[in-house]
Amino acid sequence: MAIDAIRLDGKVAVVTGGAGGIGSATARLMAARGARVVIADIAEEAAAALAGELPGAIAVPLDLEQEASIEALIARTLTHFGRLDVLHNNAALLGPDIAQADGDVEHMATALWDQTYAVNVRGTMIACRAALPHLRETRGNIVNTVSNLALQGHLIQAAYSSSKAAVIQMTRAIAASHGLHGVRCNAVAPGMTMTPALREAFPPVLRQAVEDETLRDSLGEPEDIAEAVAFLASDAARNITGQVLVADGGCASHVPGIAQFRAFFSGEQ
Ligand SMILES: NC(=O)c1ccc[n+]([C@@H]2O[C@H](COP(=O)([O-])OP(=O)(O)OC[C@H]3O[C@@H](n4cnc5c(N)ncnc54)[C@H](O)[C@@H]3O)[C@@H](O)[C@H]2O)c1
Repeated sequence: MAIDAIRLDGKVAVVTGGAGGIGSATARLMAARGARVVIADIAEEAAAALAGELPGAIAVPLDLEQEASIEALIARTLTHFGRLDVLHNNAALLGPDIAQADGDVEHMATALWDQTYAVNVRGTMIACRAALPHLRETRGNIVNTVSNLALQGHLIQAAYSSSKAAVIQMTRAIAASHGLHGVRCNAVAPGMTMTPALREAFPPVLRQAVEDETLRDSLGEPEDIAEAVAFLASDAARNITGQVLVADGGCASHVPGIAQFRAFFSGEQ
């Protein structure tokens, strides 16, 4: 009998930042594919509202800057569901003020650097550390969300982008250490993805610049990233570990300046 390995029936999945733009789309997709989802977020009300919509889901308050809060999330998952199959580290320190303050290294505030690493790197490490013994029992897996900005240099977000590069290396380290025990660890690197927050805050002229470098005819939506995460979390990805799946509409896959080449070959220049 053929098994639909991309489904997540019977699995318990923790989604950090599950109340946010991409996280909520992923929580919805995982629930639709049969998982029981733990929506973990510092935005407690939004997490609770989403959990109320999804069969079998619960919301758990989470502050990734607090070690005890992260450990309580994993403990609560085990108490409530008795197992953990997927840890999806999706939350990150984000927002217009943070992005504005996070420029190049010469002008970096040490406090912003530290907070970025506290949430994105230290928080992710503590979540993985707390989850691993339980993932070993279920032969489960971890999916970390990183970013295309972790793979290429840019003028913006030096703290954010380098923190995400650290998570890529953590992904490989975990995959190497725990593969023989049946635990996989992968990362998804979204390109610019049109969450409600980004749609509102991102300057249109820069959005157009990203669109010009995208090989598809549109920017990614949260549901596009959710598909990549749900695939890696599923048994369909059972031979994939230690990888970074870039989901950026092809933005990082070509030589720079493709917009000008398009214009040239279409006779516009
Ligand atoms: N949207 C994009 O274009 C894009 C591109 C590349 C990577 N990403 C990555 O995708 C992931 C989701 O981003 P998004 O665009 O949906 O952002 P978002 O701001 O919509 O969601 C982030 C969520 O994380 C939660 N969060 C923030 N700090 C937290 C903390 N200390 N403890 C617990 N929860 C916390 C927020 O409350 C929010 O619900 C992030 O890892 C981000 O770096 C996004």
